[in-house]
Amino acid sequence: MNFEQTYEVMKSKLGRILPDFEIKYKAELAVQINQLKKDKNAIILGHNYMEPALYHSIPDIVGDSLELSRRAAQTDKDIIIFCGVRFMAETAKILNPGKTVLLPAQKAGCSLAESISADDVRNLKKKFPGVPVVTYINTYADVKAESDICCTSGNAAAVVKSLKSETVIFIPDEYLAKNVAVETGKHIIFPTRKPRPKKETVLDYQIIGWTGRCEVHEKFTVEDIENIRKQFPEVMILAHPECSPEVVQASDFSGSTSAMVRYVEKSGAPSYLLLTECSMGDNIAASHPDKEMLRLCSVRCPHMNEITLEETLQSLLKIRYVIDVPEEIRIRARQPLERMLAIS
Ligand code: 13P
Ligand code: SF4
Repeated sequence: MNFEQTYEVMKSKLGRILPDFEIKYKAELAVQINQLKKDKNAIILGHNYMEPALYHSIPDIVGDSLELSRRAAQTDKDIIIFCGVRFMAETAKILNPGKTVLLPAQKAGCSLAESISADDVRNLKKKFPGVPVVTYINTYADVKAESDICCTSGNAAAVVKSLKSETVIFIPDEYLAKNVAVETGKHIIFPTRKPRPKKETVLDYQIIGWTGRCEVHEKFTVEDIENIRKQFPEVMILAHPECSPEVVQASDFSGSTSAMVRYVEKSGAPSYLLLTECSMGDNIAASHPDKEMLRLCSVRCPHMNEITLEETLQSLLKIRYVIDVPEEIRIRARQPLERMLAIS
């Protein structure tokens, strides 16, 4: 598409949420990126948290971590540009060792991925020998390499149930683990949290958790929900499962980012509050002008925010930042990912 066509498409979607000068400026960047993408035989995967102009202009596929992992495993392009955060780009590399995987910004990390190391997992396994390790996809490759199976927010409870094991180690998100415990009816403990009750034995617990948290989702509270319900009694409240169990239970629906998008698309409610990264509300509002998306405040993930159209253009021009995973770790990290993809 040339500039006029790109601008028209972006204007029709984003006209109500962005000023015209920004749409024009970003349409110019999008045209260059889309041309380079063709020239270099690249595919762009965009997470649902990308800022609205990027989300609605350059990705070939948008989605949640599970959908993007699946698509990353299927592509025949030479280059995968991951408009998301580092653990997502690493996942694409683990599944596609022969391809060049690029992350447009070097610093795009994740508070959950940084909350646990491979040594931490080895120590947990020593402490609880034989207990299977379920690892959230929001972790780095060396942590995945120590795990039995991965999961995402879209399949966490199903993965735990699939193991048919009385006790599992579930890392690293404390809140996701607690939400899975509620859904699967399991009792949960956190062995690194002090003080520990004296009488616990491995038989007393069924989910052994870790205390990582998402720095975005831990901010939402039940009080936020009560305040919004007072002002907008008909509002439909959706919470990501990285929110606390109290917040999830006080909401009307909880699911992965794409499950939330689908829920809003199907539901007939007049207004919605998404307890998740704030770009998602803008992205849904851009595609669905008939749906009113309420804003609690702008809670933006600082890591996702590193990914911009400018950085994506530079990434394609300079082939930067190339994601590499040491082969020995990649081979071991691939197994838990493939186990997950096979069951979901
Ligand atoms: P999803 O897998 O639901 O897209 O979540 C990824 C994430 O990082 C949420 O904060
Ligand atoms: Fe990580 Fe939270 Fe950002 Fe998702 S929103 S990438 S879990 S810090």
